[in-house]
Amino acid sequence: MTRNYVVTGAASGIGAATVALLKERGANVIGVDIHNTDVNSDLSTPGGRQDAARKAIELCGGKIDGIVACAGLATPIAKTVSVNFFGATEFLNALLPTLSKSEAPRVSITSSMASLLPNSPALVDAMLANDEAGAIRIAQKLVDEGDASASLIYGSTKRALGRWIRRESIKPEWAGAGIPLNAVGPGIVETPMVADMIASAEARAAIDKMVPMPLNYYLKARQVAYLLVWLASAENTHTTGQTIYIDGGSDAALRGDNIWD
Ligand SMILES: NC(=O)c1ccc[n+]([C@@H]2O[C@H](COP(=O)([O-])OP(=O)(O)OC[C@H]3O[C@@H](n4cnc5c(N)ncnc54)[C@H](O)[C@@H]3O)[C@@H](O)[C@H]2O)c1
Repeated sequence: MTRNYVVTGAASGIGAATVALLKERGANVIGVDIHNTDVNSDLSTPGGRQDAARKAIELCGGKIDGIVACAGLATPIAKTVSVNFFGATEFLNALLPTLSKSEAPRVSITSSMASLLPNSPALVDAMLANDEAGAIRIAQKLVDEGDASASLIYGSTKRALGRWIRRESIKPEWAGAGIPLNAVGPGIVETPMVADMIASAEARAAIDKMVPMPLNYYLKARQVAYLLVWLASAENTHTTGQTIYIDGGSDAALRGDNIWD
């Protein structure tokens, strides 16, 4: 039977590549983005998330089998918290009752290898406490402190997502309903998000120091889509709570061979 998927961030980069791959494989796909797709809603606001969920359910005819959440910002501003964390978690929670009715319900989220980079523990805690107003206040304070502090915002959103997934995935609403809940953690992917960051040799040298990718260097969006699509496929029955790094080796290079102690 044809599977119905909802993909956020569908208008560009990894989300667009995921939509294309799912369609090639015969799925029915509803895109969600702020513009240029089936459901045009702003995932940075609670109203936009609810609106997006309602329209996606309607366009799927009330049957959703998989959700792939890719919408995101890499800008060091407070809004990045609202899109990257709450734009994924609150949107997924709004779709959960519908998703739970599928015979093989699945969710995959685009986190980042940046979840391993320095972050703001206070900001991560506020997101995990589901305190969006508090998280925005902390993020704005980081912005006001200057570039070094503001640069912690993106990694904080991805760290919080990784922890939220581990915490939620084993609950009755997810594991108990047969729903694997995972993320992928890409290294650098050649999309509009990072075009400026890899535009010159100097910029690449700086980024390569932060994100070393000894295996095959930068990714194409489609290479990330393959993993997102597998995690959200019926073939994935037992992988849950994971952030799977698809990063050319940056996790291994940065954290070394012993991450268990
Ligand atoms: N490109 C990379 O190197 C890289 C690396 C690791 C993780 N990621 C993550 O991958 C995901 C996809 O990024 P990408 O590289 O494809 O970037 P992209 O900029 O090409 O795509 C992001 C999409 O999210 C949408 N979006 C942004 N704000 C939104 C909002 N308020 N409401 C609805 N949609 C909104 C944008 O319109 C865009 O279509 C992001 O979560 C990003 O953090 C990217």
